[in-house]
Amino acid sequence: MSTALIWGASGGIGRALVALLHSHGWTVGAVSRHPHDLADLTDFRYEADAADAFSVQQAVYRAAQELPAVDLWLYAAGDILSSPVADLAPADWKRILDANLTGAYTSTHLSLPLLAERAHLMYVGAYSEKLRLPGLSAYAAAKAGLEAFAAALAKEQRDRRVTVVRPGAVDTPLWTKMPLRLPRGASSPATLAERMLEAYQAGTVGTLDL
Ligand SMILES: NC(=O)c1ccc[n+]([C@@H]2O[C@H](COP(=O)([O-])OP(=O)(O)OC[C@H]3O[C@@H](n4cnc5c(N)ncnc54)[C@H](OP(=O)(O)O)[C@@H]3O)[C@@H](O)[C@H]2O)c1
Repeated sequence: MSTALIWGASGGIGRALVALLHSHGWTVGAVSRHPHDLADLTDFRYEADAADAFSVQQAVYRAAQELPAVDLWLYAAGDILSSPVADLAPADWKRILDANLTGAYTSTHLSLPLLAERAHLMYVGAYSEKLRLPGLSAYAAAKAGLEAFAAALAKEQRDRRVTVVRPGAVDTPLWTKMPLRLPRGASSPATLAERMLEAYQAGTVGTLDL
């Protein structure tokens, strides 16, 4: 049986991944700021705010006591806001960078001892070069940084696989934070989760546009 640890597990994409892997018989650890809402999907729920290294450490410590070695480690936390730089408050910049980039570093750094020798680390990124749009400076910078982080990590963790998945539009609550309508033809989180599982099974590494 395989084991996954999913960060951002209460989000649209994170929850779909927890549900899919659970339905395939995986042991799934789920990390969220409010993990009680995952009680129907897994017994291995951990509370952490990716912006708070101490809470991430506590979640990792608990996961280490309960979970077998992790085969698929997946960072699906993220946050977005639309604001021109002129109006972008330092706290909002920090929130977006924490959720999309610094949290990915912190949770990776603290989780590495939990991983199986040949584990797969997956990060949910975005089409960062297409996001260099007015209002999206923080989000675009964070997602570009995430890709650079993962590329360097892959060269360090040579026995492990590292992938940045870049989805197109997915129908999740993230879109309620944007002054844009969800595009027609957006994927469902369940469909994206299926494709991410296929990427894991195929051993896909590097940047993967889905
Ligand atoms: N939806 C899309 O069209 C789309 C497209 C490309 C990429 N993505 C990326 O996909 C990832 C998942 O997004 P989603 O669409 O599933 O959005 P979502 O439903 O809003 O989920 C995002 C999750 O991240 C969590 N989160 C945010 N900041 C956090 C923090 N500091 N600590 C811990 N958790 C935090 C949120 O927690 P709370 O529930 O506590 O707020 C939420 O559960 C994000 O990285 C997003 O950028 C999404």
